[in-house]
Amino acid sequence: MNTAPAGTHHTLIIGDCTKILPTLPDRSIALIVTSLPYFNAEHDYKNYYQSYDEYRELLHQVARESIRVLADGRIFALNIDDMRVDGRLYPLVADATTAFLKAGYDYRARITWVKPKGFALRQRQSGLAVKYPYPMYPYFSNLTESILLFQSGKFDYKSVTEQCKQKSRIDKDKWSREWNLNVWNICNVLPVKGRVEENIAAFPDEIPKRLITLFSYKSETVLDCFLGSGTTMKIARQLRRNSIGIEIDPALEPVIREKTGFAVPNTRPDTFKVIPQKNFTKPYSLSPKQPQKRRAHAEEENGRRQRDEEHPLPVLQRPPLLHTILNGQHGSAAILPNRDRLSLH
Ligand SMILES: C[S@@+](CC[C@H](N)C(=O)[O-])C[C@H]1O[C@@H](n2cnc3c(N)ncnc32)[C@H](O)[C@@H]1O
Repeated sequence: MNTAPAGTHHTLIIGDCTKILPTLPDRSIALIVTSLPYFNAEHDYKNYYQSYDEYRELLHQVARESIRVLADGRIFALNIDDMRVDGRLYPLVADATTAFLKAGYDYRARITWVKPKGFALRQRQSGLAVKYPYPMYPYFSNLTESILLFQSGKFDYKSVTEQCKQKSRIDKDKWSREWNLNVWNICNVLPVKGRVEENIAAFPDEIPKRLITLFSYKSETVLDCFLGSGTTMKIARQLRRNSIGIEIDPALEPVIREKTGFAVPNTRPDTFKVIPQKNFTKPYSLSPKQPQKRRAHAEEENGRRQRDEEHPLPVLQRPPLLHTILNGQHGSAAILPNRDRLSLH
């Protein structure tokens, strides 16, 4: 009898998720957990997008493309919040909600993530009311973010086997003490120098931990289409789910490897693979605060890949992306009825 633990499989796709999502198979993903750049946030993403219209169009594209790849009745969990840029407050939460409803999702919940008081994002204008303590001067500092849950239609609870349910049981204590509330008190990633996700607006492990536990079964596939430092992939691995992460910045590959535990050579029974994009140009303009070391590594990787492309060995020729995914080991087989099951294994 084979008693070896079952492995989980993790794929990092380097590229723009609006181009990659359309190449993923229908209903191949059981849960999406992600957090896209908050428009042109002063500290992390200044001038990242040319206009708010461009950003809104991105929200619509992600909503439209993701609903097809999600299995029926499944959840897209989006960490987002309104953003004040150059004095003007942009309604990201409302616009994301509109985009997802328009794409055909149902609105399932809005969770408010509350950070410890010392980490309030001070609005530049919040000091005004100190200098001028009179009505109309106050602007609030931000201590919360939103986690929006959208659902792709009705979920068929009968499609899950009893064994699968038992393996994925939710801890009743955790659920009734805090997870059941739509306010989650969670400490943000502390700004400690030298941490693996330095200069990346990462969410804390606890956010994907709760979402993956509550909305996916073991061995299913979780997608993060704005992977950043790889937090969702790290937690998916810990919770014995497969994962796919899409990240536009190739310089983050070593960070993701390190965070997910795949920087070490032997990670069996779990596997990790990287799918680079052909003809993909480095978005260095998109990562202005990138540390030198990461940038140098990415330069090196790109050079190596370019050399591979110029002198390809027959065995190294890469199949088209869709086939790579199909021939990989991802699947959400646990919940799909037989007739609809994708042959992903
Ligand atoms: C807010 S960060 C995600 C942080 C992540 N949740 C974590 O814990 O590390 C957003 C990430 O999306 C990436 N990104 C921006 N536009 C993208 C796109 N079109 N496709 C894929 N990734 C993109 C950025 O490079 C950045 O790393």
